[in-house]
Amino acid sequence: MGRVTRVITGLAAAGLFLAGWQVSRGDDDWGNELADRWGSASRVATADNPVYREECGSCHMVYPPGLLPARSWDRIMDSLNDHFGDNAELDAATKAEITRYLSANSADRSEYRHSRRLLRTLAPDSIPLRITETPYIRHEHNELPAQAVAGNPDVRSLSNCNACHTQAEQGSFSESEIRIPGFGSWDD
Ligand code: HEC
Ligand code: HEC
Repeated sequence: MGRVTRVITGLAAAGLFLAGWQVSRGDDDWGNELADRWGSASRVATADNPVYREECGSCHMVYPPGLLPARSWDRIMDSLNDHFGDNAELDAATKAEITRYLSANSADRSEYRHSRRLLRTLAPDSIPLRITETPYIRHEHNELPAQAVAGNPDVRSLSNCNACHTQAEQGSFSESEIRIPGFGSWDD
């Protein structure tokens, strides 16, 4: 976490604390209620745009667009020349198409359960560049031991969602589909 992020996080601490509490408290009832209403248990919109899949799926999984707000996607797409230490720059037309697609399917345009929770627990002025830095995704994984993630040679980083969530690329994060390599299924 950079210093600026840390300061912003600090300023928003009270709000995030409340938001985090809301997530843990509402985890089941609230989710089930929404799942019933939209028939979308444990899903987010799938990354179904072929240009996005082609250009953004060569180094890592194609992240579901509904796991970040549009403001985050815009910033990621504006800084592809310095993309987490890699150069992922694209020509202007391709970039514009992907940016449009990501915006239109971002967390703030989505009724899916995980997108709603992710957004609800994000400070309105924060612009995370990583899904793994959002309070919601951090909260969901804060009980995982380090040897299951960073110290696990088949996972290495929480960013590799599909190492554990077998249907991540289909937009599904249901607990019954989780298999942590070397640890087996998750029966929390
Ligand atoms: C040249 C390789 C490369 C390409 C192409 C690429 N990325 Fe990445 N991306 C990375 C690396 C490296 C990371 C950091 C991974 C890590 O920390 O484990 C990353 C991380 C990310 C993350 C943050 C994941 C997290 O930790 O939550 C997002 C979001 C992302 N990329 C989106 C994109 C998008 C959108 C595109 C297409 C425009 C793209 N990437 C294309 C290399 C690439
Ligand atoms: C090391 C394995 C692992 C990796 C990598 C991982 N997760 Fe998870 N994830 C889990 C486990 C285990 C749980 C269940 C935690 C619990 O119930 O306490 C979980 C829970 C979740 C949930 C909540 C599911 C629900 O129905 O409540 C979401 C959403 C989620 N993960 C998304 C992601 C995303 C997005 C990524 C990548 C950016 C990711 N995860 C990476 C193991 C992993």
